[in-house]
Amino acid sequence: MCGIVGYIGPRDATPIILNGLKRLEYRGYDSAGIAVLENSHIEVRRDAGKLNRLVSMVEGAPLSGNLGIGHTRWATHGEPNAKNAHPHIGSTGEVVVVHNGIVENFLELRDELIAEGTTLHSETDSEIIVHLIEKFLSTESDLLSASRKAFSLLKGHHGIVVISSKEPDKIIASRIGNAGGVVFGYGENEMFVASDLPAILEHTRRVSFLETHQIAVVTRDGVEAQTFEGEPVELETENISWDPVAAEKGEYRHFMQKEIHEQVRSITDTISGRVDFEKGKIILPQLNLTKEFANQIDRIILIACGTAYYAAMVGKVLIENIARIPVEVDVASEFRYRDPIINDRTVVIAISQSGETADTLAAMAEGKKRGATLWSIVNAIGSQAMRIADGYISMQTGPEIGVASTKAYSAPLVDQYMLAILLADLREVITEQERRALVEDLRHLPELVGQVLSRENQYMQVAHALKDSLNCIYLGRGINMPTAFEGALKLKEISYIHAEGYPGGEMKHGPIALFDKDLPVVVIATQDQWYDKMISQIEQTKARGAPVIAMATDGDKLIPPLADHVIWIPEVSWMLSPVLTVIPLQILAYHIAAIRGLDVDQPRNLAKSVTVE
Ligand code: M6R
Repeated sequence: MCGIVGYIGPRDATPIILNGLKRLEYRGYDSAGIAVLENSHIEVRRDAGKLNRLVSMVEGAPLSGNLGIGHTRWATHGEPNAKNAHPHIGSTGEVVVVHNGIVENFLELRDELIAEGTTLHSETDSEIIVHLIEKFLSTESDLLSASRKAFSLLKGHHGIVVISSKEPDKIIASRIGNAGGVVFGYGENEMFVASDLPAILEHTRRVSFLETHQIAVVTRDGVEAQTFEGEPVELETENISWDPVAAEKGEYRHFMQKEIHEQVRSITDTISGRVDFEKGKIILPQLNLTKEFANQIDRIILIACGTAYYAAMVGKVLIENIARIPVEVDVASEFRYRDPIINDRTVVIAISQSGETADTLAAMAEGKKRGATLWSIVNAIGSQAMRIADGYISMQTGPEIGVASTKAYSAPLVDQYMLAILLADLREVITEQERRALVEDLRHLPELVGQVLSRENQYMQVAHALKDSLNCIYLGRGINMPTAFEGALKLKEISYIHAEGYPGGEMKHGPIALFDKDLPVVVIATQDQWYDKMISQIEQTKARGAPVIAMATDGDKLIPPLADHVIWIPEVSWMLSPVLTVIPLQILAYHIAAIRGLDVDQPRNLAKSVTVE
């Protein structure tokens, strides 16, 4: 979703901001803009479309100055065109604003401004922020006070960055709620502001984060933050150790392909340091989980959106089977509107790659309000979902750039498996022998993931067979039912082929009416307790003339004569099978989209981090 970058210091701000925006491209956007202070005057360039259009515009009409802000916009109010793109400039031309989030009381504030004689130039909710600041500048002493007064009128969740030609020595930044983060990067006599770490990591590793309802003044020398009530806030700085090179495409055509292939490493890193193979034990220190608390838990609620939601569905099977704790799984956007039953023995676990998904954060807040303990399983270090939780498991996958989530799906499967074992151990519901066997299965997992990845060419052949399909059905049962949902989501979001996942047993209750020679059906039929049932789904699918693409375990003899195409995977324990079964489906979706010549990493209408409701 929208990205923000700001710079103040001795260097030329323009390339720093444009490069920072480039690093945020993965978040998804449909217009971009930059404002730079040039000789006491703010110059703005902005346009619809991809960043290279803005870059060409800046090449044609260069900008030069040491203070600036930039933005990539994902349209909410008003079309993605040049006039709706940020930065928004006020009537006097002295103040410019970039904004992430939605002004929920936009109509009301807009009508008031219009009644007072303000002329608006865009259809956006964001533009009103700059006019409000200008209005309060006539009564307040400085940009900070005017901004604070303006921001306190806004309903909803926001990340806002402001500069003014009248106060050229500062950037004002604020965070209200969960519309993405605000991070500060500390340099030598220079400072960086951004919505996300990747935008500034090439310049500095020393960073701090703004919390909600805080506002800060950023100068070349540092940041001074305070609450909206004017109480000074001490921001804690931390050093980020990730390698920005990890976010480069390297030998791969797309980030998605690279990230699919990174799963050997990400699963290895997920396990590393958390598993004591000798003792057969799991160690998850950031959860702050004691034996006493583990024994008090009477229910777990997993909340997440999209791909993370399907990962949570697998987690339910794992935690219920291994730890014998009842688990509910909720789509985060529904959770807080259903008046959930929660007490102080409930643990709400949020799963999120970005850790900034607005619906997930709102669901976490609801859980907290009702007395639950909050845990999160998060990829983005320092994100809100990590910081507001009572305990967390960090995904250890490194930055995920492709909008379609891949390695951040498989990692939380393993995280939840380990969590289930730890809970079972602390609650003494499994024997030592059972625990050791479960832990031991983790040992070979990275190697098995590697084996699946080495079969990419095989899976590519299936991609060629499916590339012109208009629709596709995915069927799975038990622990691989969510794999069918996730496989279908991957296909639809990057290839724009209509795809639906169904629980295998539901097929005969409706979807079978669709089955004919033009509807390929992908059936996950690996060796597990649901295998016989899945063979029967294959038979029923075949009988309706639909092409069958079956996923089978190496050595299976029944499936090849029944299926049009077989996707082979190595033998694996049933509980860890979703870590393997999803990979061929990711590869399939990737190659279908790539063959169709689509923008795999930035599919239309999608954003990497969905920071609006
Ligand atoms: O950052 P999160 O994991 O909270 O994001 C949740 C979903 O928006 C995300 O998984 C989305 O469904 C992806 N496009 C899936 O590929």
